[in-house]
Amino acid sequence: MCGIFGYANYNVGRSRGQIINTLVDGLTKLEYRGYDSAGIGIDGENDWSEDSPVRAIQLYKQVGKVSNLKEEIISHHPDVSETFYSHVGIAHTRWATHGGVTQVNCHPQSSDDTNQFVVVHNGIITNYRELKMFLKAEGESFKSDTDTEIIAKLFNYYYKKDPDLEFYQLTKDVLYQLQGSYGLMVKSVHYPNEIIATRKGSPLLIGVKTEQKLKVDFVDVEFINDSEQSTEANGSYLPSKEYTNSSLRKSESRAILPDHNMPIEFFVSSDASSVIEHTKKVLFLEDDDIAHINHGELHIHRARQSEGMSTTRPVQTLELQLAEIMRGGYDHFMMKEISEQPDSTFNTMRGRLDFKNKNIILGGIKQYLTSIRRSRRFQMIACGTSYHSCLAVRSLFEELTGVPVSVDLASDFLDRSPPIFRDDTCIFVSQSGETADSMQVLKYCRAAGCLNVGVVNSVGSSISRETDCGVHINAGPEISVASTKAYSSQFIALVMLALQISNNVIDNKQRHEEIINGLEEIPRLISQVLEKKEEIKEISLKYLHGKDSMLVVGRGYQYASSLEGALKIKEISYIHAEGVQAGELKHGVLALVDSNMPVVAFATQDSFSPKVNSAIQQITARDGRPIVVMTEGDNLIDRSKTSACIEVPKTVDCLQGLVNIIPLQLMSYYLSIAAGHNPDRPRNLAKSVTVE
Ligand code: AGP
Repeated sequence: MCGIFGYANYNVGRSRGQIINTLVDGLTKLEYRGYDSAGIGIDGENDWSEDSPVRAIQLYKQVGKVSNLKEEIISHHPDVSETFYSHVGIAHTRWATHGGVTQVNCHPQSSDDTNQFVVVHNGIITNYRELKMFLKAEGESFKSDTDTEIIAKLFNYYYKKDPDLEFYQLTKDVLYQLQGSYGLMVKSVHYPNEIIATRKGSPLLIGVKTEQKLKVDFVDVEFINDSEQSTEANGSYLPSKEYTNSSLRKSESRAILPDHNMPIEFFVSSDASSVIEHTKKVLFLEDDDIAHINHGELHIHRARQSEGMSTTRPVQTLELQLAEIMRGGYDHFMMKEISEQPDSTFNTMRGRLDFKNKNIILGGIKQYLTSIRRSRRFQMIACGTSYHSCLAVRSLFEELTGVPVSVDLASDFLDRSPPIFRDDTCIFVSQSGETADSMQVLKYCRAAGCLNVGVVNSVGSSISRETDCGVHINAGPEISVASTKAYSSQFIALVMLALQISNNVIDNKQRHEEIINGLEEIPRLISQVLEKKEEIKEISLKYLHGKDSMLVVGRGYQYASSLEGALKIKEISYIHAEGVQAGELKHGVLALVDSNMPVVAFATQDSFSPKVNSAIQQITARDGRPIVVMTEGDNLIDRSKTSACIEVPKTVDCLQGLVNIIPLQLMSYYLSIAAGHNPDRPRNLAKSVTVE
């Protein structure tokens, strides 16, 4: 996944230095999306050609973090004082997918040595090899290993064929050729002070900043005239040549049109976190939208007509506060987000759980509840931590609804392409709402005609918009790559979903009340465990720091805890941690156990305790000395045969995992710091994996 950012100012003077800072600061907020290289494209200090007053485009690129890019720019001593009253700039921070981390593979990618067209891109063009061959046959040569370079060259190819096209019309020709996913922005010397922003499968939003109140609170999508629109209605692309011989119906659509001297600025980005400090007025682009910012005007066109697609894009007010984004008093986002869980779990329940009357109302699925209750099967699909949150609630779902629940990794689901029936309900769990594997499965399930429910954190994300209904987990922005508060909020959201679906079954009443009472206590119980930070840090450093591998053992409701705990530890401390179903120890894993193999075991009291205690005895009999996460005051554990015990408060069995995971989140954080790593930016990983 990559981060793309664009900035356009019109009727307001901005120096080159201010523009550079705005672009670089925007990238800094997007670094969690990818940070192995970065670059910007702005107006340079020379004209592009002798007979053209248009400025050449200046690119600055550097491998490494955004701070490296800033040093690179400074080293070129640009004239930072020159002021522009109309300017567009684009920027990119990269997580390499095609081509290694090299200067030449940094974005913006260019059409040619004179930078006629420059492009920043988030996504993956699946037919880029074929297009590369075609362009080579047309005499083009390539510098980079990226798929993005072919996009820049296609723009130039079609421009040369018809230089009279408007920028958005030219864009239609290019998009007509592309397959795959993209969020992209384009700047060109042939279209000075204009930006194109378009998306398919990768998020893009546009922030609008003006001194006066905007006259419109939405932007109409501008379609072509009726005759061609009906042709378009079958969803096929109409390349722009269809447009040149027909008078475009400049419909009475409402665009953002500044009064002749109204200052206006646009901030285009992959993520709201880089826009919020400038403006809270944003609009989210939909797949196949082509946003054209042209001398302070914003128009939205369509690469193709999609049945049932809304014809307007509302200008929304972001409720995110910058403080929510920033780290607060913590050294890392991860510790902030671990520590936020008493609040974030409460926010997940806020306005939905009536603790007094023991009732649950999930407004986001209300109108689909009858259909969901008719489901013959629930199919949960997710990746990584989100997958573990599904495992954590699977048995409760089956207990309360009486319907079989299958839980699949999205990638494995895609490999199998299993049968999906119209009376299935598929539940997509995703923090980012942009994970490519999950998105691909969603497309598969939509084609199968089943009901699709989203359990997502990022409002406005693709999964949240493309599922039929859903539950936002309201955990607030999760910036650290390691998912923590999203896990606990997804867990709770899924528990609430199970309660909502099954609260028409009278037999469930007592169990429901027990769970709702338990949920009310969760924020407080998590706070109690968070007070043990120093104890947990000491245990982590004493028994786990410097180890090469370790086992995390759990059973029943705690099997998900063992998988999630192991993932946390491996992804940020790089210790190979394996989550183990306690019942599987004797089927092979026990061979690894001796006095040197660190083991963490979940042994909190529940109906599986006898079997778990037996598993612990299997470990201690081989001289293993586990770290045991146990219920406060439990005297059944023989402490003399443990390395350490972490006592946690007891709650309802199906909710205990919400409490038990906190020590493992903290362990992973402290082990990461002790190993000299940055827990917010683990190597090789990105916050949202928007490529398959
Ligand atoms: C978890 O710590 C990781 N960041 C990763 O496994 C993540 O949960 C996974 O990529 C799924 O992301 P999503 O929830 O945004 O779909």
